[in-house]
Amino acid sequence: MSTTTAQRLDVTGMVHVARARVVARIREAEVVAAALSAGRNVLLEGPPGTGKTTLLRSLADGAGVPLVLVEGNAELTPTRLVGHHDASRVLTEDYRPENFVPGPLTRAMTDGAILYVEEFNRVPEETMNVLLGVLSEREMHVPRFGRVTARPTFRLVAAMNPFDAVGTARVTPALYDRSCRVAMGYQDEPAELAVVAAATGGPEGLVAQAVRAVRITRDHAELRIGSSVRGAIDSVLIALELATVRGQAISPAHPVEDTTGLDAALAALTGKVTLADGAARPVEDVVGDIWRRAGEELGKA
Ligand SMILES: Nc1ncnc2c1ncn2[C@@H]1O[C@H](COP(=O)(O)OP(=O)(O)OP(=O)(O)O)[C@@H](O)[C@H]1O
Ligand SMILES: [Mg+2]
Repeated sequence: MSTTTAQRLDVTGMVHVARARVVARIREAEVVAAALSAGRNVLLEGPPGTGKTTLLRSLADGAGVPLVLVEGNAELTPTRLVGHHDASRVLTEDYRPENFVPGPLTRAMTDGAILYVEEFNRVPEETMNVLLGVLSEREMHVPRFGRVTARPTFRLVAAMNPFDAVGTARVTPALYDRSCRVAMGYQDEPAELAVVAAATGGPEGLVAQAVRAVRITRDHAELRIGSSVRGAIDSVLIALELATVRGQAISPAHPVEDTTGLDAALAALTGKVTLADGAARPVEDVVGDIWRRAGEELGKA
């Protein structure tokens, strides 16, 4: 088999690790694992905080393949992605292969890693074209360095937020055509409760109020963008610390005090949500109402 041919991955091992580390998401884990094992590249599409990185990390570990993570943004030039020659050594020694500093793409190809590009829609077009070439050929030519060939386990996974202002329309149809797409939406309430409980170890009532509050933010007339489960995790973690600093014991008999929960929620959520156009009051008032409403819905006084 030539080195440029993709090789199957341990699809069972991948799903096994994902099941142990990722709450629910079993269908997504199976489908992404199957696509990667089949040598396909994957586009993961979903809002922030929906577990895309968590899922992919567990699949890479399950496959025993390294994960190389790159943040997609306007500064991710082809040179940054591919690598560059050390300028000072080039001056004294000329362009030698030893003077080449490999970028994440070159490292991922030669290590047989999964290259994970987050916020893919923000990557400049010329960088996308480099990736497109690699997807088609599994090799690339680097000027004054030579041919870089992908090891058989190399894959590309791109993540995108469908609501990003930069928009997924920037991504060329040729790339969609060479990838498989898996959508990762917000999880249901029981799954989010399990995620937050596992991440915080917080008491049930506080976890429930935090999860309900972030779910309300996603469907609220005064907010354009709501919070992911990260907002619930942060609310719980901050509330626990605040209770400590204020000398308030939290137990099943003593739920978190209202002001403490509210202060934590304001810190955790006001920066994560975005007011709708023409909103008539400050974001603190909106989040405060949401936090209280979450408590009321769950039957608190
Ligand atoms: N299904 C899940 N199982 C376990 N943890 C989860 C799950 N979903 C989200 N989380 C937790 O929520 C947080 C955000 O998850 P993660 O970083 O994977 O999201 P993401 O989709 O990669 O976000 P972004 O698009 O902002 O990069 C992490 O703390 C993660 O542990
Ligand atoms: Mg991520």
